[in-house]
Amino acid sequence: MIDRRKFIKTMSMLGLSMPAMAKSFSGRSGNSSVVKNNPIILCSRGEKWGKKVLKPGWDILRKGGQLLDAVERSANVTELDPEDSSVGYGGLPNENGVVQLDASIMYGPTHNCGSVAAIEGIKTPSSVARLVMERTDHIHIVGKGAQNFARAHGFKVENLLTERARKSWLRWRENISDKDDWFPPKDGNYDKNRPNGTINVLAVDRAGDIAGITTTSGLAWKIPGRIGDSPIIGAGLYVDNEAGAAGATGRGEEILRTCGSFFVVEQMRAGKSPQEACEALCERIIYINGGKEKVNFNDKIVALNKNGEVGCAAIRGSKGSEPELAFWSKNGFEVFKGTFLIEN
Ligand code: GLY
Repeated sequence: MIDRRKFIKTMSMLGLSMPAMAKSFSGRSGNSSVVKNNPIILCSRGEKWGKKVLKPGWDILRKGGQLLDAVERSANVTELDPEDSSVGYGGLPNENGVVQLDASIMYGPTHNCGSVAAIEGIKTPSSVARLVMERTDHIHIVGKGAQNFARAHGFKVENLLTERARKSWLRWRENISDKDDWFPPKDGNYDKNRPNGTINVLAVDRAGDIAGITTTSGLAWKIPGRIGDSPIIGAGLYVDNEAGAAGATGRGEEILRTCGSFFVVEQMRAGKSPQEACEALCERIIYINGGKEKVNFNDKIVALNKNGEVGCAAIRGSKGSEPELAFWSKNGFEVFKGTFLIEN
């Protein structure tokens, strides 16, 4: 026998009410009327990157082109740009100074998905993830196997470590300890931050179909072989054609233990708006970590539903430095400021 009170308490800890549960079990979205011919593409960045990243994807979508081409071309922009130190070429390396990349892709109409993890030497891991989805019977391919698969499809294996990333890694290596044989230079300042930036691209096409990509170089100075949330379907990315799409950035371990993107999409299916769903995940992460006082990391989640409504929330932030996303729709380019739960 299920104890009803315990059941309801557990459901409310999950952020689900009883009527919401009923809807989610039916497998149907809370949004019954879907607006067609309302394409939109978003990314988990603000104005500067948003404009660059979304332009090629929006050009495809507005002309009625392929949804997957749109998200892939947009994700490729950051992957190929060495100025971004958290994605693709120019990404910060692992503790051995080797760049290892993670990426995933998911297509709402079929729930097809693909991902690569800890792949070395390939500038555009999201394109390899798409090939895993479209040209294999698998979902995840990692490490050397992923590189071999990319090579088989004609990708060039290149050095992804830029001079800027190498110098940041060297400075970190030299500052780990004053008991080893690596000495830091006497002058320079050392940035103790361990970035784990990432980018999510989510889009709806004219037909109302949804797709998404998450791509990253992962946590800087990670243990070789560590993979974060980004290549794990349901963690760093999840797309459902009825309920919507979500993608995560920030500390991947927290998103993994909450199945973060799946959680957000299911909250939308249960009737929450994308914004409410993103906030529910942040609350859940704080809850399972023992409360706001115990949380010293950050995560950010972005979401999109079929009707082009967007949401964005982060664990931490400050006034004037709210978490944001950028999107392109028929109304042009816009930046959306989200909410945060803990003031920095
Ligand atoms: N969210 C990116 C990572 O933790 O690898």
